[in-house]
Amino acid sequence: MTDDLSDALWGAQLDHLTFICPDPAQMADFYGSVLGLAAQQTEGQSFLLSGPGRRIVIRPGEQFDQTGSAFRFETAAALERYRAALTAGGLNLKPHGSPFLADGFAVADPDGRDIQFGITDPDIMLPVPADTTPPGRLQHVVVATTDLGQMIRFYEQTLGFRPSDYVVDETADERPVTAAFYRSDPEHHSFAVFRADSTRPDHHAYEVECWNDIRDWADRLAERDIQIWWGPGRHGVGNNLFFMIEDPWGYKIELSAELETVPAETEVRTWAHGPRALNLWGNAWMRS
Ligand SMILES: [Fe+2]
Repeated sequence: MTDDLSDALWGAQLDHLTFICPDPAQMADFYGSVLGLAAQQTEGQSFLLSGPGRRIVIRPGEQFDQTGSAFRFETAAALERYRAALTAGGLNLKPHGSPFLADGFAVADPDGRDIQFGITDPDIMLPVPADTTPPGRLQHVVVATTDLGQMIRFYEQTLGFRPSDYVVDETADERPVTAAFYRSDPEHHSFAVFRADSTRPDHHAYEVECWNDIRDWADRLAERDIQIWWGPGRHGVGNNLFFMIEDPWGYKIELSAELETVPAETEVRTWAHGPRALNLWGNAWMRS
């Protein structure tokens, strides 16, 4: 990782996700109801879902997957600086293909997932959700992989994400890192990746303003007969309060508060692999 590259990325924030699903209408119904998003169907059975601080693209496909994570820059100049830094590194840039971005590009990560970078389209007309929800800003996305080493190299050295924490299995002789958390602005992580026995989506998280918002989200979900899947707890890594639910496709959705902030210059830290890294209060979802 060069300082130029990570400096150019600094300030980018997660803007939206793209899922593919065999039944986009069913997925749009679920996310519209649960997260309070208004849905707009576009050509080809795709849906754009939007609400305050969060939006999702759903496209039709044979099996559920997360195909895109889009990061936005505040200005065209910041986007151009990052584009130049990536191009100088010889990276192949692709069209972004996102209906929410006015300009930008995409790159494919080693697991074949698109990471989009751009500036948002100020002229896009989006429907307004019919109901009000507690705050919940799309803040981070997490994936699982069978080859954590190459994902770490790509996100750090090729894209310039700053590692905030590694989770390390100190008993392992080889490949001791079991998870890596990355930031692209002062929030502890906007992206993270776990070692696992399959390459798959892991979860996406919505940051709220306080503990009471966590309660209000749990009450909202209870009204829809959706039970908490993990938590409430406090993550060791990132120090955020959280709970998770599971969507009908097995993907986890997290509500989070009090996520740690980490200055740009802070060097990567480590946590011992084990439940405590993932939940200071109790049991943990161990991916490996
Ligand atoms: Fe999370």
